[in-house]
Amino acid sequence: MNIIDGKKIAQTLRNKLAKKVEKLDRAPGLAVILVGDDPASAVYVRNKDNACREVGFYSEKINKPSDITQKQLLAEIQRLNNDDKIDGILVQLPLPDHLDANLVIETIAVQKDVDGFHSENVGKLMQNKPYLHPCTPKGVMTLLATTGIDLAGKDCVVVGASNIVGRPMAMELLNARATVTICNSKTTDLSAKLKRADVVVAAVGIAQMIQGDWIKKGAVVIDVGINRLDNGKLVGDVDFDAAAQNASWITPVPGGVGPMTIATLLENTLTAYQNRK
Ligand code: GUN
Repeated sequence: MNIIDGKKIAQTLRNKLAKKVEKLDRAPGLAVILVGDDPASAVYVRNKDNACREVGFYSEKINKPSDITQKQLLAEIQRLNNDDKIDGILVQLPLPDHLDANLVIETIAVQKDVDGFHSENVGKLMQNKPYLHPCTPKGVMTLLATTGIDLAGKDCVVVGASNIVGRPMAMELLNARATVTICNSKTTDLSAKLKRADVVVAAVGIAQMIQGDWIKKGAVVIDVGINRLDNGKLVGDVDFDAAAQNASWITPVPGGVGPMTIATLLENTLTAYQNRK
């Protein structure tokens, strides 16, 4: 069994990006908007801001109160759409209930949508003509590439069908010519589907729900989950110790997919910069 060391692979990507930034005449700029004071979201936003600084990007961290109106938030996005220093705009999700997340996403300029959540970017990925890719699935593809395994013809099972991870993940794998099964909370006989998988991507948000004996001998296991147990320990959606007995490659939690998401956001911001030039 081999560990896919996401922390190290993300650092390598950040080093590569930092080298590229040195040669540019202007620093690529990322704006991250955080509405309200959800502690988990605040940590993510701070990590994104720190990562930008590390690679020499220009970063704007914008905190808005939880009672901001829809109109005010859309106006802020419009301001950033028209700001030439800003190449990428990310609005941290989830948003408070009174705000329409879909309208917010659709207001971000397609060229600055470094999350890849705008319907135009989603549609382009579906057509296998991607422009800006959602960060977590793209980061997973980078991790899979380091194993050297050719995904063409492989049976891949994605567990979870969210807009942020499951759906775009399935499209990325399909675009790599894999055979893809997307499971959701109503899927029957999940274990039987997983037992046939050459590649498992778990993105359900339920601690250690995927059992070790559901993993085929030699399968690659990618765990997108980050769940905190009552004892404070962080675990994924996969029972790591048991799954590692069968997997040929597996990502740890923490230190697997998590660090790749932010490194890929930086990669997308550089792409957005280059596309705008
Ligand atoms: N919340 C959880 N994951 C993400 C993400 O990838 N992008 C944004 N904007 N919000 C998130």
